[in-house]
Amino acid sequence: MASFKTKIPEYKKLVDDFLDNSLPNPNQSPQKLTQAMFYSVMNGGKRIRPLMMFASAETLDINFHDVLPYAASIELLHSFSLIHDDLPCMDDDSMRRGQPTTHIEFGEATATLAADALQSLAFQNMALAKLPESKTSHLKLISMIAESIGSSGMAGGQSLDLDSENKKLNTKSVENIYMLKTGRLLQASILTPTYFKELSEEKITALNGFSKAIGIAFQIQDDIIEAEGDFETIGKSVESDKNKNKAAYPILFGINQSKKRVEELYQKACDSLSIFRGNSSSLEEMAKIIINRKL
Ligand code: IPE
Ligand code: IPE
Ligand code: MG
Ligand code: MG
Repeated sequence: MASFKTKIPEYKKLVDDFLDNSLPNPNQSPQKLTQAMFYSVMNGGKRIRPLMMFASAETLDINFHDVLPYAASIELLHSFSLIHDDLPCMDDDSMRRGQPTTHIEFGEATATLAADALQSLAFQNMALAKLPESKTSHLKLISMIAESIGSSGMAGGQSLDLDSENKKLNTKSVENIYMLKTGRLLQASILTPTYFKELSEEKITALNGFSKAIGIAFQIQDDIIEAEGDFETIGKSVESDKNKNKAAYPILFGINQSKKRVEELYQKACDSLSIFRGNSSSLEEMAKIIINRKL
């Protein structure tokens, strides 16, 4: 079977085309809002969450066309979370993906509304998508994704993240924040294909274990990149965490320990997949991409 990596450009194009078709036309009224939505989504994101969903679908032998609307919707939810994350009342960042953040380009009010509208569009797309199996599991799937970004998921993690500024947290507390603010949406991406098929509890537990470890590793790697990278490569501030004295792994525990932890979590993630007996190479490739990424 062809490696997952070789299929990434094709999968990304599918997601980009779906996003492009579902976003409101940026030439149509209310133009400020529709342009801000387009600007925040169609601007070179790595599309890691959709790719994770496709990798999970491959592992479970689910057709990627079935999960595509959910993959694109999760990318819309991710974009909405980034617009809020960059606002002056949150991380107060002025650059992302090598261009001015949405509120710098369009103003805070329009950026806030664009994030609202992206969230709404994501749920609309998911509600209109093909049913996985039965109406009940369709609603359960949407409910799982909703929960992943709510108070016990991304929004909860973001709240703890803001509270943690200037505090000396231990590794367990930092990892809990990472699991919530970043891990839960990645987990939702990985679990979505499980709603399309009857699966054993063991397989779902395995995917949960994988998600948890790789979600935390993703955020520690994000912090390492910020601590070690340069603006030209990463396209966002390399001093954001330091300036706000964030509870970021490299700031609290040093670069070496951060790298060691990423490696440990990667091993743990891959070990969780043993039940798939060698059929989970797509997820393993994605895990490798996540821990080796420099962007
Ligand atoms: C950045 O996510 C924000 C985090 C949750 C760590 P990505 O690294 O996936 O960002 P894009 O979408 O590729 O810009
Ligand atoms: C972003 O975390 C998490 C979410 C948007 C939910 P960070 O604040 O650490 O990510 P960057 O560095 O701004 O991309
Ligand atoms: Mg943040
Ligand atoms: Mg930030």
